[in-house]
Amino acid sequence: MPGKVVLGAQWGDEGKGKITDLMADRMDFVVRYAGGNNAGHTVVCGDDEFKLHLMPSGILYPHITTVIGNGVVVNPKVLLEEMDNLHARGINCGKLRISCNAHLVMPYHMAFDRLGEVSLGSAKLGTTHRGIGPAYADKADRMGLRVQDLLDDKIFRTKLETALERKNAILVKAFDQEPFDADEIMAEYMGYAERLAPHIEDTSLLIYEALEEGKKVLFEGAQGTFLDIDHGTYPFVTSSSPTVGGVFTGTGVGPRHIDKIIGVAKAYTTRVGYGPFPTEQDNEVGETLGKMGVEFGTTTGRKRRCGWLDIVLLRYAVRVNSMTAIALTKLDVLSAFDRLKVCVGYSYQGKVYHDFPPHQTIFHKCEPEYLELPGWGSDITGITERADLPEEARRYVEFVEQAAGVPAEIISVGPKRTQTIWTPEGFEPRIEEGPYLYREDFEPPANNG
Ligand code: GDP
Ligand code: IMO
Ligand code: MG
Repeated sequence: MPGKVVLGAQWGDEGKGKITDLMADRMDFVVRYAGGNNAGHTVVCGDDEFKLHLMPSGILYPHITTVIGNGVVVNPKVLLEEMDNLHARGINCGKLRISCNAHLVMPYHMAFDRLGEVSLGSAKLGTTHRGIGPAYADKADRMGLRVQDLLDDKIFRTKLETALERKNAILVKAFDQEPFDADEIMAEYMGYAERLAPHIEDTSLLIYEALEEGKKVLFEGAQGTFLDIDHGTYPFVTSSSPTVGGVFTGTGVGPRHIDKIIGVAKAYTTRVGYGPFPTEQDNEVGETLGKMGVEFGTTTGRKRRCGWLDIVLLRYAVRVNSMTAIALTKLDVLSAFDRLKVCVGYSYQGKVYHDFPPHQTIFHKCEPEYLELPGWGSDITGITERADLPEEARRYVEFVEQAAGVPAEIISVGPKRTQTIWTPEGFEPRIEEGPYLYREDFEPPANNG
């Protein structure tokens, strides 16, 4: 049974957490392949809401093995806090597996993230300050410490001291900051090591064997296509590969094992942080989208910038990810409008671009060309069949499908599991409104690991 991918088609926060959680019901493994705790994935189950940062969104099901792949950067402190919080709410994290090759986010990465933003001044990116960029930079610079280094204190210390030699010199000389102390970091991280050790393994082999045995594996993306270091709106991006290529480098699984790639796209567009955003509505429309969609960052609480759906971007995302389908989320939010706008091209210096432009200046300075579609103006949050949607809503979805060139196999009309319209054959999940499927016979283990 080949693997399936859920990834972000826009600038993140598309609803990947909800879609992953829904699909996880029919899976055996859920694997995160990129990013770190800059991600914030929301899963709503009954009256309970879970905000996941490093933990894959399959964790609510007891039958799922969750995996943090080698492409993820792991802040062990945050991961353990997340495990403890889940544990306190009755979720067992005992099946979590962490790649031995994943890189660690270190205290100095967070310091460099903040200092880097300050030194950029008005050109700053608006990062999440979680140390993600500096952690990936050290990985590429071959200065990183990996999860497996936690298992050998001598190796850990040698690598840490080598890294600190360089880091502290820069911190002290260039930024006039206090240096980091190797002993303090050692003590802190060796404490984490003890708790994480039982979860660490070669997850590439684990996933490969699972796939060969016919197990069902879902790869969960973090961030989104336009935050991709290669294919996004560089430099206003994150430092990893949220696009489909990241699945392969970030887990050690090859493309032969994937048969479905679902891009999650909101029925409009949002972005957190700085950078170009052609369809942004810095006006009443944006305010309404933000209010109706509750558009505040899951990780940092920042207000998300909001705008109309951008078909040029969606088509690009379909292409670079080889998407087989989209999951169109938050369609219910558009119920607030009588008329809807959809961007179908960018106008710049007398030319109209229907594909993502080849130069950043065009993207920064273009004027969006809009097409107007009628709204439906009624509550759709209780609809579970596509045929029951108001005609205008069906037309909106059909327009998006036609423009994107792939079907909307999932349409989401609210944050809950039940607020979902499914069309893929043989893939309907057993949607249950909480409590979690397994609560009745769940006994929390003495040690959450
Ligand atoms: P992710 O980072 O892609 O997992 O998305 P986030 O969890 O950061 O943000 C998506 C937000 O929208 C969360 O608060 C979800 O509960 C919520 N959400 C997901 N799908 C829908 C939907 O169809 N309608 C509405 N109104 N909210 C949704
Ligand atoms: P999920 O998985 C939305 C954005 C930050 C900033 C840029 C770089 O919840 O969709 P970073 O801290 O990664 O170096 O910041 O990327 N960003 C996200 N925006 N959703 C996310 O994750 C994001 N992760 C990073 O706001 O603009
Ligand atoms: Mg999010």
